[in-house]
Amino acid sequence: MSKIKLFDPFVDESETRAIKRVLDSHFWASGAGSGNVKRFEMKFAKYIGSKNCVAVNSGTAALNLALSMIDIKGKEVILPSLSFVSTANAVIENGGIPKFVDIEEKTLCIDYTKICDAISKKTKIILPVHFAGYVSNLEKIASLCKKFNIDLIEDAAHAAGSSYNNKKIGSHGKFVCFSFHPVKNLAMPTGGLIAINQKSSSNISRILKAKRWCGITNRRNSKYDIKDLGWNYYMNEFSAAIGLEQLKKLDWTNKQRQKNGKRYFNEISIKEKMPFDKGCSYHFYWIRVKNRQKFRKKMFEKGIETGTHYEPIHKFSFYKSKIKLPITEKVSKEIVTLPTHPNLSDYDIDKIIKTVNGLS
Ligand SMILES: Cc1ncc(COP(=O)(O)O)c(C=O)c1O
Repeated sequence: MSKIKLFDPFVDESETRAIKRVLDSHFWASGAGSGNVKRFEMKFAKYIGSKNCVAVNSGTAALNLALSMIDIKGKEVILPSLSFVSTANAVIENGGIPKFVDIEEKTLCIDYTKICDAISKKTKIILPVHFAGYVSNLEKIASLCKKFNIDLIEDAAHAAGSSYNNKKIGSHGKFVCFSFHPVKNLAMPTGGLIAINQKSSSNISRILKAKRWCGITNRRNSKYDIKDLGWNYYMNEFSAAIGLEQLKKLDWTNKQRQKNGKRYFNEISIKEKMPFDKGCSYHFYWIRVKNRQKFRKKMFEKGIETGTHYEPIHKFSFYKSKIKLPITEKVSKEIVTLPTHPNLSDYDIDKIIKTVNGLS
């Protein structure tokens, strides 16, 4: 019995050829490289309709750097707790205070109706996560940001290729952070990117580019200056070369994910499940079950890998938050994630649906 994997990047000979070209060039880092990183930034910016993009080596790095562009020391950042821990770590990394807000039961994205109660004089940023590729209510969140003079930064780690009001994700928030971790819709060995949508975006992009490489700026021949702290966050040429090939396929691979998501939505008999939305890129598909451990064990025995996304961040020892988030806490105990990747056959999807329905 072959196992159905939860995540599996879609690759063909084009990635193999791209990797060989970088290998043979002997320029593997981006600084002196063969231009793949720059090309990826330009092509991705065009794809999402953003003013400028800065590629980095992970979604975590993208979040850390984007938040470093706004002074949040001692200030609050509003975010959901049902996310990968990097979303909140980036706030702490930059001296800010994470203010967790509950999620909507229907979409598992941050509940904008609860954001209002969480806004205080200290609030600097709202940081929604587009959970599983389903876009948070950006219109409502953006109007709150405008009203209270707060910045919108999006965690779009799950949402490469998702759209909102027919516009690709990446063109809305002041900064939009993507992850290209191998499990993501656009997969690289490791990678991330910050999309910039604001005035002076080329100046901001210059600052971010210095920050992504140890603060190095004003490089002329072998001379350079350091005006600010920076990190070793640059994207390498192999990742960018793979990313360029993955980007060409992204609309098609997302269409396959969406087709699978639509079948789950229509055919899974469980009531608590991810809704269908045309703008969603279905990074994975979620359902909720009561006896999760038993359910996942049975699925595994049938050769179907499932996941749990996520442990709520506010419950981790490091965060020690006493805040009560009833929906997040309930969902995090029940959520099971199903595969949507384009390597799944119709037979695989039939089998997953049949198995889920048989267990519920
Ligand atoms: C919602 C979310 N934010 C941030 C990240 C961090 O991305 P990376 O793993 O590329 O650092 C991830 C990755 O898993 C994620 O799922």
